[in-house]
Amino acid sequence: MIELSSLFHQHIADRQRTTAGALAQTGFEALVISSGKVYTHFADDQDAPFHPTPHFAHWCPMAGPHHLLVIRPGQRPRLIRYAPEDFWYEQSPLGNPFWASEFEIEEAGTVEDAWKRLGTLRRAAYIGNETDRAEAAGLEPNPALLTAHLDWHRTTKSAYEVQCIEEATVLAARAHLAARAAFMAGASELEIHYAFIQAAGIVDHEMPYGSIVALNEKGAILHYEGKRKVKNGAVLLIDAGVQVRGYAADITRTMAAPHCDSRFAALIAGMERLELQLCDLVKPNLAYGDLHHQGHLRIAELLKESGILKASPEEAVEKGLSRPFFPHGLGHHLGIQVHDVAGQQGSPDGTPAPPPPQHPTLRTTRTIDVDQVFTVEPGLYFIPMLLRPFREDGQSASFNWPLIDELTPCGGIRIEDNLLVTAHGHRNLTRPHLPI
Ligand code: GLY
Ligand code: MN
Ligand code: MN
Repeated sequence: MIELSSLFHQHIADRQRTTAGALAQTGFEALVISSGKVYTHFADDQDAPFHPTPHFAHWCPMAGPHHLLVIRPGQRPRLIRYAPEDFWYEQSPLGNPFWASEFEIEEAGTVEDAWKRLGTLRRAAYIGNETDRAEAAGLEPNPALLTAHLDWHRTTKSAYEVQCIEEATVLAARAHLAARAAFMAGASELEIHYAFIQAAGIVDHEMPYGSIVALNEKGAILHYEGKRKVKNGAVLLIDAGVQVRGYAADITRTMAAPHCDSRFAALIAGMERLELQLCDLVKPNLAYGDLHHQGHLRIAELLKESGILKASPEEAVEKGLSRPFFPHGLGHHLGIQVHDVAGQQGSPDGTPAPPPPQHPTLRTTRTIDVDQVFTVEPGLYFIPMLLRPFREDGQSASFNWPLIDELTPCGGIRIEDNLLVTAHGHRNLTRPHLPI
C-alpha cells in the first residue's frame, strides 16, 4: 500500500496547482484560509462542537480553531498553528504527523499573534469565518468567484482523499453490522445508535452527520434524528457514517425483522436490486440528472410490480406519480462535506446549474467524471403529507390506496452506497466492506 505521506504529498501538489490556477484567473496573488472560530450559542457560554472551515480541512487535517494557512503559488504553504497555553481545554502538542513536512509550520500563542504573523500580503483573498480580522489585515473575505473555482476542483478527489473515505467506510461498515445485529436482537433506536457509535469507537459529535436510526414509520422522515426507546421494530432504516481525517462515509441500509409485513420486505429486496442496477450505470460522461431519472423509472416499475401504482412506469414518471414516494435527489458529491460542494455548478466560474423544476431536490446536476466521489441512494417512502394531494386529485385512481395505507406503518426504504468514478466505470467503495 502506498504510504499516506506519499499520497498526501501528491494531494498537496494537486491542490497547489489548482489553487495557483484559480488565483491567476481571479486576480489574486495569495490565499489565506483559517480553520475558523468556534460558534457560541446565543445568550450562553456553551460552544457548538467545532467544525473546521471545510476549505482548510482539505488542505490540512489538523484539528482546532484559529489556525491560518497561507498559500502562494510556487511556495510551500505556511501553516500558522494556534497553540495557546491553556488549562481550561486540553492543548495537544503537534508531534510529528504524516502531513507536517508539506508545510512551513510556526506556532502562535494567541489569536492576535497568529494574525500578526501573516505580515503584509498583496492582493490576497481570505476564506473562513474570521472576516473582521481578515478585513483588518487587508484581505478580501470570501470572494465568490475564487471560491467557485476552488469548489469546482474539489469535486475531483485525489488518491489521498479516496483513501480517507475508504478508511471511513471500513469503520462505518463495522458499525453498520453492529447496528444490524442490535436491531435483529430487538434493540430500540437509542440502543441501535449506541451499538453503532461503540463499534465505530467514536462519540456523537465525531460523526459526519447526526445518525438517522428509524424504526417503522419514522423511516418516512428523511432526516429523522429522534432516538426512541421502544424495542422490537419491524423495519430499520439506518443512515449513519464515520469520518476519517475529516472525510465522510455516508451509508444507508434498510432491513426487515422476521415479523415485518412480507410485502414490505419484498419492496426492500426490490430496492436492493434496483440500487445495484443504478450503481452499475455509473460511468464518465453520463449526466447525474439522467441517472436520477433512471432511478424514478425503476422505482415506478417496482411500484407497479408491487401493485401500489397502476400506471406504467413511463406514464407514472411523466405525470410525477413516483415523486411522492421518492422525493429527494438520487445522490450528492461526498468528501469533506457530506453534501460536498459544487454539485449545482455549471462551470468553474460558478455559473449556476440548478436542478430541473420537476426535481428541485436533486443536489448534483454535474456530468459524471473520473475521480468524482458521490452517493447513489434511491428511496421509497410512504409519506402521508406527500401522498395526500394525490388522494384528493384526479390521479387518485392510479394509486392502490388500501395497500398504501397498510404499508405506511412500515415507513420507508433507502439504500445508499458511495461510488468513485473510474476511467471506464466506477468502483463501489461501500459494498466490499458492507455487501448487504
Ligand atoms: N445522510 C444524509 C444523506 O444521505 O444525504
Ligand atoms: Mn447521502
Ligand atoms: Mn446518508
